[in-house]
Amino acid sequence: MFSSKIVGFESYVPKNVITNDELSNIVETSDEWIYTRTGISKRCLSTNENTSDFAINVGKKLIENANISPEDIDIVIVATITSDYLTPSTACIVQGAIGAKNALAFDINVACSGFVYALSIADKFLKSGVYKNAIVIGAETLSKLLDWSDRSTCVLFGDGSGGALLTASTNYNSIIAEDLKADGISWQAITGGKLNNNNPFVEEKEQSSFYLQMNGRDVFNFATKTIPKSVNQVLSKANLTLDDIKYIVPHQANSRIVEVAAKKLKVSLDKFYLNLQNYGNTSAASIPIALAEMSKNGLLQKGDKIIITGFGAGLTWASMLIQI
Ligand code: UT7
Repeated sequence: MFSSKIVGFESYVPKNVITNDELSNIVETSDEWIYTRTGISKRCLSTNENTSDFAINVGKKLIENANISPEDIDIVIVATITSDYLTPSTACIVQGAIGAKNALAFDINVACSGFVYALSIADKFLKSGVYKNAIVIGAETLSKLLDWSDRSTCVLFGDGSGGALLTASTNYNSIIAEDLKADGISWQAITGGKLNNNNPFVEEKEQSSFYLQMNGRDVFNFATKTIPKSVNQVLSKANLTLDDIKYIVPHQANSRIVEVAAKKLKVSLDKFYLNLQNYGNTSAASIPIALAEMSKNGLLQKGDKIIITGFGAGLTWASMLIQI
């Protein structure tokens, strides 16, 4: 019987840091509004890099840290809503660039829940006993999808990437319980990247916006309802309580969402790891960027149990109880 062992985390963000004050030169906003409504102070934005560049950097570092050969990688999964191209997948570009020539590779599009979904998929592959090593990456260049004249969205997001290396193990299980769900009835709450029907045979050309649009209030209410429910789901599946959990690592969208979730779960805010003040909302990249930062700062020790919980477009949500 095989299970998945998480070997390491890594991250990469572009060097160009943009503060709230700098955004106030572009749209009518202020540091005060952005910080008090969201907890965000700054974000990293790409100047000339694409999603694949971020993900390649993460993939290379994961392989280097684990001291294995790129040819030992069997699976490359990239979770993203901002793939360089609609086709090929970003995962294929990454697979080629890191030299993982024996690996299968594909992207998944589950927005801010994408990294947790991708971990779950990799786990099933590794449990099959057929595959040994998997690279799972969340990577986004959301700045490409934003309408930079829309203050209600452009101040919220950032670019970057994070990922994990997983290996099939017979004596260690990192993925203890999961809760992955979708509510497709509510898909219109967050949309982006609409392709229009504009071929020569179409009489009325479509004019839909390509840019990300979000009903912030609805998503806020959805998230504050979903996080506590989903966290309790994985705890109950694992037969554990919050006392057994060292950290909850939520999708980094808004610190007020996390404050409400903490209250509902009757747990101190300190249990949640937040770094959105420095990165903004990086969608599928936010959870693995946080995990890599925690790992680097010595916050994650072998045997620690944590819960990661994502929520976003789809609508989708996904929580996972992990043992480091
Ligand atoms: O990763 C996907 C998951 N996404 C999320 O989790 C996002 C969830 N939603 C949220 O985090 C919050 O709803 C937002 C941060 C997006 C918005 O906060 P809010 O407290 O819901 O504000 P609002 O949209 O109700 O807007 C309040 C006011 C409006 O003005 P009026 O109508 O009251 O005069 C907006 O026009 O704030 C105005 N506003 C701004 N003002 C300054 C909206 N954006 C800005 C801005 N700067 N950037």
